[in-house]
Amino acid sequence: MLRETVEHFGTPFHLYDEQGISDTCAHFNETFAGLSFREYFAVKALPNPAILEILQNHGFGYDCSSLPELDLARRAGARAHDVFFTSNNTSRDELAAAVGRSALVNIDDMAVLEKLAELLGGSHGVDTLSLRVNPGDAKSANAFLGSPRDAKFGIPTHRLAEAVTRARELGVRHMGLHMMVASNVLDVAPIAQTLDILLAHAGMIHERTGVVVEFLNLGGGIGIPYRPTDRAFDLAALSRALRSRLTEWARTRRTEIPRLCFESGRYITGPHGVLVTSVVNRMSKWREYVGVDASMSSLMRPGLYTGAYHHITAPWIEDGISHTVDVVGSLCENNDKFGTDRELPALAEGDTLLIHDTGAHGHSMGFTYNGRLRPKELLLRSDGSVQLIRRAEEQERDHFSTLAFPPDGIPAPPRGLRPDGALHEATV
Ligand SMILES: Cc1ncc(COP(=O)(O)O)c(C=O)c1O
Repeated sequence: MLRETVEHFGTPFHLYDEQGISDTCAHFNETFAGLSFREYFAVKALPNPAILEILQNHGFGYDCSSLPELDLARRAGARAHDVFFTSNNTSRDELAAAVGRSALVNIDDMAVLEKLAELLGGSHGVDTLSLRVNPGDAKSANAFLGSPRDAKFGIPTHRLAEAVTRARELGVRHMGLHMMVASNVLDVAPIAQTLDILLAHAGMIHERTGVVVEFLNLGGGIGIPYRPTDRAFDLAALSRALRSRLTEWARTRRTEIPRLCFESGRYITGPHGVLVTSVVNRMSKWREYVGVDASMSSLMRPGLYTGAYHHITAPWIEDGISHTVDVVGSLCENNDKFGTDRELPALAEGDTLLIHDTGAHGHSMGFTYNGRLRPKELLLRSDGSVQLIRRAEEQERDHFSTLAFPPDGIPAPPRGLRPDGALHEATV
């Protein structure tokens, strides 16, 4: 099937596996069954309507962070509270769009809360609101997201009670908290700690303001084994850890267990995508290189994050002898490397390589530097068929399209004499 797909569509392309995604969704739901919870898939991870539809069949909602993501979720059938709007540095227009679509809005800053107040203009148009928490010195920070104190996200904990009071003045009746301080973690602890921190603040909010926090959003961040030696994240252990914390908290406080939300992206689709690419050049310099027909513009993670790894394999070549090579694209950037010091068989022009685990934050983080355009996306359906779900970008149709526009500009100021007799030049 893969060989046929390569022959039919040509490389490079991202290929996603419907059955794999579907199985992971079912596993996610089964693991948290019994808890009141919902997964809002992080649309930024794989913003393709064909994928979003698969997730919707499993009852997932969508986590959106921009207007295009909101619109994409709507196209996939999401309505009102199916969408969590977790944006940051939010503009008035985007906030209005989220409120207008009745999304669950997650407020990232007091300035955005005031924008909401302006927008509502005295009407009590928002019933439910979430506040994104920045915990300052949280132990759960990891290398990818850094220290929360240095992060631009969320309302610092010392302003949370003030934010809740303000939200209540705006007519909000149902409140939730959100926090995400770790990314791609393979241990349960950082996510369980996120819940601990949110529960502590839910308690504090109740004591200070009387407001009951009804839901807690733990964000994304559940990791996947990118390296063959990595172990898989133990979702069942996470479910047990969260359940026991929630039960104990509710028991000691004699209150209801808050609803739980996730915004996982990587865990849901990451392992079910592969970037298929072909060798363009086998090059010998101070190091050995395999140049391929995809670039970092189709998969940015290895260039962007130190230590980010994607496994690379060569299907169909079984010569048994491995060579140590760097697998590189064609961008005029030296970090345009999919992998360094990889052991691969002898490769020649035209050979196919698979870059694994590209189903989340892969194509979607793509860009067009050097005019290297984003590749197509294909979906391997559960019945074995392969469907084009996004065409490749094209030079005229896409890349040059923003160069066609009606003339526009500002005329130069009139040249003349200034009072001191000097000649006016165009002024800044
Ligand atoms: C606010 C927010 N939620 C969810 C996610 C999804 O994270 P992941 O794909 O690692 O689960 C991200 C990732 O950038 C995020 O910024």
